[in-house]
Amino acid sequence: MKSIKVGLLGIGTVGLGTFNVLKRNQEEIKRRAGRGIEITMVADLNTVRAKELTGGTCEVVNDANMVINNPDIDIVIELIGGYGIAKDLVMKAIANGKHVVTANKALLAMHGTEIFKAAQEKGVMVAFEAAVAGGIPIIKALREGLTANRIQWIAGIINGTTNFILSEMRDKGLDFDTVLKEAQRLGYAEADPTFDIEGVDAAHKATIMSAIAFGIPVQFDKAHVEGITKLQATDIRYAEQLGYRIKLLGITRRTPKGIELRVHPTLIPAKRLIANVEGAMNAVLVQGDAVGATLYYGKGAGAEPTASAVIADLVDITRLATADPEHRVPHLAFQPNAMADTPILPISEITTSYYLRIRVADKLGVLAGVTGILADSTISIDAMLQKEPAEGETQTDIIMLTHQTQEKNVEAAIAKIEALPTVVGKVTRIRLEELS
Ligand code: NDP
Ligand code: HSE
Repeated sequence: MKSIKVGLLGIGTVGLGTFNVLKRNQEEIKRRAGRGIEITMVADLNTVRAKELTGGTCEVVNDANMVINNPDIDIVIELIGGYGIAKDLVMKAIANGKHVVTANKALLAMHGTEIFKAAQEKGVMVAFEAAVAGGIPIIKALREGLTANRIQWIAGIINGTTNFILSEMRDKGLDFDTVLKEAQRLGYAEADPTFDIEGVDAAHKATIMSAIAFGIPVQFDKAHVEGITKLQATDIRYAEQLGYRIKLLGITRRTPKGIELRVHPTLIPAKRLIANVEGAMNAVLVQGDAVGATLYYGKGAGAEPTASAVIADLVDITRLATADPEHRVPHLAFQPNAMADTPILPISEITTSYYLRIRVADKLGVLAGVTGILADSTISIDAMLQKEPAEGETQTDIIMLTHQTQEKNVEAAIAKIEALPTVVGKVTRIRLEELS
């Protein structure tokens, strides 16, 4: 059978990884796919570099439209990134009847609904395993392996850059900017690294997982997003003393009132496997009603780990290309006419536990004032740490861990605590998940 012809848009970090792995493992991949998979055309702005990298094995052009308009191309891989030109190219490729593989979570989180609808109408596949957690086959697990389950929640370390930053800062005492530069050098960070450190990239991925897990449209605009830039070393230390680690988690959970979709720094018990995921590694914990908890771990970024997922999609499309569209796995796991309109909850309506750090004057009765407010707000305390003031100081920290409560209760209680005359400045509030 003649080989499948692939056009690659963008031969940067992931594009080159894909090109190299496909070339290196071509025989093995052909045995699995049933026919050869061949990159015959590459588009990149820097054609000189692209020609050097591809060594004359395929046609190199600087206009991506030449790839998507070429009738010989069966599958287009979009590895440019962003939702400007990449969106135009993906939509045009679909309109031209091409199957699409993309690692572009930003594009899918923002415009997934429109893209999947267009693909559905045209009868082509849009595959995106690499868009969430790099090399970990989490999309396949959620869409296929766990299909018997009613998914209850997902919690994941799904941004390698921030996990790398948190790990290096804690283990090596390096400062934030130095570690971020290293993550950029290693090819983990996004073109705009604020997407990583402000939690946006993780929220893109959590949004995609939420849609697949619960059969709802892709709704990035409803996600609650907090990054790691405001996290303080003091809180990382106190958390450790209480037996917790702080990780940037993407969480989505089904509740009777709606769906929680949030990204924020989170305390998790140090004894959980996921708390020990370090460096650029990713891990996703999925709780299904039948299977219970399952954990997926691996490299979440980098050239070849991400290429592994891109090529898995190429093989899937190659195997399924001749199947009737209605016999393929639906893009968002659920049949398009069976999507739910379950609302995504505002952050004030979520329920979780909290870490509170309160800076107080070291005076008699301070603690009673704080605990009184929490009791009046029906917030119960799970653990507490009261530090002695440092020598010569008149202020100290009280750290409290609460049991589960609604976010709006905690926000109201914090406002009252901050108004106490003995409390200094703002209360630090970090969410806590037991993940049990
Ligand atoms: P890079 O910036 O390394 O690569 C992008 C490539 O696209 C560059 O070679 C760039 O050329 C080229 N390009 C830009 N505009 C055009 C255009 N109009 N036509 C053709 N080529 C163009 O990005 P990555 O490989 O890191 O990321 C690609 C995608 O994969 C992104 O969506 C990213 O979010 C996603 N991803 C990345 C991961 C990673 O570990 N890096 C992991 C998982 C997903 P030039 O450099 O000359 O501008
Ligand atoms: N910038 C992303 C990360 C790349 O650090 O996880 C992988 O999606």
